[in-house]
Amino acid sequence: MVISMEKKRNSFGGSIGFVLAAAGSAVGLGNLWRFPYLAAKDGGGLFLVVYIILVLTFGFTLLTTEIAIGRRTKQSPLTAYKAVNKKSGFLGYLAAIIPMMILPYYCVIGGWVTKYLVVYCTGAGTAAADTSYFTGFLSGITQPIVFLCIFLALCAVIVARGVDKGIERMSKFLMPVLLLLILVISVFSLTIKSEGADGVVRSGFDGLKVYLIPDLNSLTFSKLVITVVDAMGQMFYSLSVAMGIMIAYGSYVPDDANLVKSINQIELFDTVVAFLAGVMIIPSVFVFMGREGMEASGPGLMFVSLPQVFHSMGKAGTFVAILFFAMVLFAALTSAVSIMEAVVSSVIDKFGFSRIKAVIIETVIALGVGIVVCIGYNLMYFEFKLPNGTIAQMLDILDYISNYCLMPIVSIGTCILIGWIMKPDYVIDEVEKSGVKFSRRTLYIIMIRFVAPAMLMVLLLQALGLFSLK
Ligand code: PHE
Repeated sequence: MVISMEKKRNSFGGSIGFVLAAAGSAVGLGNLWRFPYLAAKDGGGLFLVVYIILVLTFGFTLLTTEIAIGRRTKQSPLTAYKAVNKKSGFLGYLAAIIPMMILPYYCVIGGWVTKYLVVYCTGAGTAAADTSYFTGFLSGITQPIVFLCIFLALCAVIVARGVDKGIERMSKFLMPVLLLLILVISVFSLTIKSEGADGVVRSGFDGLKVYLIPDLNSLTFSKLVITVVDAMGQMFYSLSVAMGIMIAYGSYVPDDANLVKSINQIELFDTVVAFLAGVMIIPSVFVFMGREGMEASGPGLMFVSLPQVFHSMGKAGTFVAILFFAMVLFAALTSAVSIMEAVVSSVIDKFGFSRIKAVIIETVIALGVGIVVCIGYNLMYFEFKLPNGTIAQMLDILDYISNYCLMPIVSIGTCILIGWIMKPDYVIDEVEKSGVKFSRRTLYIIMIRFVAPAMLMVLLLQALGLFSLK
């Protein structure tokens, strides 16, 4: 037997492993705490229809492009752009900086989720229903940092084990469990019925109607535009594009894998989970808190409103809360692992470091920045007004720069690179390499050259406060 001395690039064992890992990246906090809120805000069913159309056109274009660049170049995000075209190396730097900025605060939030899971598992859930519990937790100095360390260590161990033994194995186990948990909680959520604090009796099915039935009566043109822009931003974030992750994961996909099929499956998985998150959250919040309860999203929804809902459920509440936070933890972990992998693969490819060394370096950086994010809520507390009008703390500033500014910029750059400089055949040939037909070829060409960059420009201008819909 000939033993090759050349270091072999990690790879996924098969298509299912790749699809579940990519879906693991895509399914995250965005699906769980932002999608249901936007759907409820933007007229129920209408948002869902717009969202699905965008996933199948805009989302499909970006996802296909990144995965194909990864597989074709067999490089990490940092080095892949240069391999596509010598002059586009700077996009690689931007694409690698984004996950470095996101990982620390994503892990801080992962730490909060871990904390809540522990709280409910140890039977202390009643305290969490108090509105000041969450702020009390954040203003304590050590606890958020301890939970950040636990979550980050979990991530580091999985990434250090490599693509097939770490990331793929974890995804193959956690993603089916996540789907099962969300299904169970959704069904439960539909069965509840209760008299809310306002004395009105509401059922889970009433809540489902709020979620699904389009509110067309009050529809105006400007509302429709807001719905489209909201759905666009949500979809962009939800599919984990524009931060190198899909390039890194694409570079581990075997050449004979059917990319068209895999991409369809990733989109389907992500959309189904987002949809189910709505079925799970909207009816239960609606039953116990009415329409006003549905005005919360993000941390406010997950760590303040939902604990109150669990409390109102009585005895069953603790059990549902444990299932819920376990599910959120899995979603956050598979996403955080993908963010870390984007950085680690870049360090390995650029500097030739071992995987372990790269993981240690990135963990130390994420820990350092993560601690600054944590103390941004207590010792270093400040309030800052962002160009788009929101009041921000440390975490929000990192989120704003990475998600709202750099990600659209990288994506616009990628569209120009593939659509105009290299030409769409660069991606189409890669997809068709395994012998499959690229069925949405014409759609792809129109999207990558014209529509996607224009849509991304709208997102960017809105984030910069140069264009407002409200
Ligand atoms: N796509 C994930 C979500 O919907 C979030 C995420 C963003 C994950 C960026 C990785 C990188 O929550």
